[in-house]
Amino acid sequence: MGHRAAIVGAGHTRFGALDVGPRALVREAVDEAFRSVDLGVDRAAVGEGFLATLGFGGWQIGNASAVLAEEAGLAGVPTTRVENACASGGTALRTAVRAVESGGADLVLVAGLEKMTDVPSARRRYWLGVSGDTEWERSAGLTFAGVYGLIASRYVADHPEGRDALEEVAVKNHENGALNPKAQFQKRVTREAVRAAPRVADPLGLYDCCPVSDGAAALLIASADTARRYTDTPVFVDGLGAGSDFLAVQERADLTRFGATRWAADEAFHSAGVDRSEISFLEVHDCFTIAELLALEDLGFAADGGAARMTLDGETRRDGRLPVNPDGGLKAKGHPIGATGVSQAYEVFLQLRGAAGARQLSGASRALSHNVGGAGATATVTIYSVG
Ligand code: COA
Repeated sequence: MGHRAAIVGAGHTRFGALDVGPRALVREAVDEAFRSVDLGVDRAAVGEGFLATLGFGGWQIGNASAVLAEEAGLAGVPTTRVENACASGGTALRTAVRAVESGGADLVLVAGLEKMTDVPSARRRYWLGVSGDTEWERSAGLTFAGVYGLIASRYVADHPEGRDALEEVAVKNHENGALNPKAQFQKRVTREAVRAAPRVADPLGLYDCCPVSDGAAALLIASADTARRYTDTPVFVDGLGAGSDFLAVQERADLTRFGATRWAADEAFHSAGVDRSEISFLEVHDCFTIAELLALEDLGFAADGGAARMTLDGETRRDGRLPVNPDGGLKAKGHPIGATGVSQAYEVFLQLRGAAGARQLSGASRALSHNVGGAGATATVTIYSVG
């Protein structure tokens, strides 16, 4: 099937605990995206903008999209805030692709942002909790680490080698993050250190969790027809899928399968008209190490329970058969909530254009990104190629 849209520029701040405010983060990522356009771009060509953000801590929770227009120098251009918790970025990308497909705009700016580290810890817990099920999970005191801890317990009980695989996901993603100058954690960890780390929600320890992060990322999305005005190597979006599920995990048929991801993946592969064997690498939503194992299974790259063996056999390492999270993933690169889905597409943009520096994969021609909201309530899947 044909290309649906193309990424022609991308920008990204460092992720981490940054002494920079939200507006400056947006501005930095957007400016870099404009500068990255090979053949140049006039900002006046942008017809629409989307800002993905949860508004963590209460920062500009209403009308935040006007900040994108201001900081990008696009006053007058229609902008909309997109919010689907941790899947806000992927959802904004999907919305942007559909905007250019509709003919409403030929060039769309997408930015993702979160500023989390300046919020005091009790408020931080509140703001992390707002994306979980409010009636049951939060009132029972369940945090996201708690929910994913329950999911991991079930997975490890069903597949005993899962416990070693969780450690291996942490080691691999920290190893990848060590090669990413924009990652929050640029240090390797050993299996022993992962095992000895403080427990957060058993079986998940400190190194099984994504951190709390500040950061922003931005993309310029052009219609497939106009992409070559901006670059000779556009990164095309060929497939898109999205899904939702019950907010509370107790309503779902199975703790260790995310239906939202399964539906999104089926739609994305169907719309791209490609087969899983044609995908060179994956950017998946590893907010906790268990989430990477579930993603491999829900996306259809491993049978149920098979992701553990695949991981332990090294297949998902940078030099493996199917590299997963070459940028360090949420685990090591960081997880500024609204920025994450946009950041995943940024990594795909670099990798498919051979511009990923020390972490460059060899021969990557097609990629998939996968962004999840909360504990699987919403998900998006995007399939890309380079042309
Ligand atoms: N991975 C590795 N190291 C981490 C880390 C993580 N996720 N989080 C913190 N650290 C490190 C810090 O760098 C610091 O190291 P230092 O002592 O060498 O400076 C140390 O651990 C303590 O950091 P601190 O910020 O005090 O940790 P914390 O105990 O307050 O928070 C978590 C740790 C895991 C509870 C917190 O990162 C967290 O809540 N993560 C999950 C966020 C989340 O739920 N996001 C939404 C997902 S759906």
